[in-house]
Amino acid sequence: MRPVLGIESSCDETASAVLDGEGRVLAEAVLSQEREHAPYGGVVPEIAARAHLAILPDQVHRVMACAGLGFGELGGVAASAGPGLIGGLMVGSQFAKGIAIAHGLPFIAVNHLEAHALTARLPGLVEHGVAFPYLLLLLSGGHCQCVAVEGVGQHVRLGSTMDDAVGEAFDKVAKLLGLGWPGGPALERLAAGGDPRRYTFPRPLLGRPGCGFSFSGLKTAVAHEVARQGAGALSMRVAADIAASFQCAVTDVLVDRAAHAMAMMRERAPDAQLLVVAGGVAANGAIRGALADVADQHGFELIAPPVRLCTDNAIMVAWTGIERLRLGLADGLDVAPRPRWPL
Ligand code: KG4
Ligand code: ZN
Repeated sequence: MRPVLGIESSCDETASAVLDGEGRVLAEAVLSQEREHAPYGGVVPEIAARAHLAILPDQVHRVMACAGLGFGELGGVAASAGPGLIGGLMVGSQFAKGIAIAHGLPFIAVNHLEAHALTARLPGLVEHGVAFPYLLLLLSGGHCQCVAVEGVGQHVRLGSTMDDAVGEAFDKVAKLLGLGWPGGPALERLAAGGDPRRYTFPRPLLGRPGCGFSFSGLKTAVAHEVARQGAGALSMRVAADIAASFQCAVTDVLVDRAAHAMAMMRERAPDAQLLVVAGGVAANGAIRGALADVADQHGFELIAPPVRLCTDNAIMVAWTGIERLRLGLADGLDVAPRPRWPL
């Protein structure tokens, strides 16, 4: 297969990548719009869409030049077409369709969640590759779910959050503690020097059947503690202890939910033995470590792709394009991007 161009623009990362037909990365670029959104404490959809529009054309041309390819040499163009912020999705998928029309190439409308799910199958990531089926724990700022990945386009959602996504909870608690946005990485750094046993925060759904999640009660409990301390007057010591206690509660919940999900996965597929994590929260060292341990206890192996492949990127989009093209699953140019597109 000829090389495939992938475009990611579903949230606040503008990204492009070209992979050869085997899935080797020829060139890639990711530009986070953190600076544009930081003054507002979160992603502003209209600003994101305009930034994608401003960044994408040059970025794609640079990535193609870096790969040493002309558009006519591609085998297809893939773009995230949902779920996500509709403005950004429109920019990315229209841009991809334009290239596809101009050069007579197949277009692939990629489900962003499937792209996270299939990342683990990128050649070279895991020795001998990751075969279906496997269990995916998607832990990002917008999504929190356990998915049985049974094939390309074949996913079964085993459980998901009923309120906030786990990354969203990190971001909201970070904000309460006066950390910048996005808050996950800063909160992890602060927690490293704190006492995780100082505050006993709730562990929502711990021990309950299934593998759903809920984080809003935990976030509210942290907000009450911060208010009790007198928000403006948090000492570094107290802030670090709150951060560590919050991260510990989240970790306990994720470990419990993952254990339930592995049991559910074993019922569906007795031979399943891989637990794959994806999404920005998978960058958290404490969470990765705890998930590796619980996977081991259940006879699973944890596959945690490198952080740059866990957060939003276009390599995963191009790779999903390749997986789908191999099965003849190109899309028509009339496929519209969708803000909601469950797996
Ligand atoms: O997957 P991602 O890059 O974007 C989407 O949400 O799709 O995930 C971003 C989320 C943010 O909520 C961020 O705070 C969180 O991942 N995050 C972390 C860490 N790094 C990023 N959360 C906890 N610990 C981290 N080290
Ligand atoms: Zn994502």
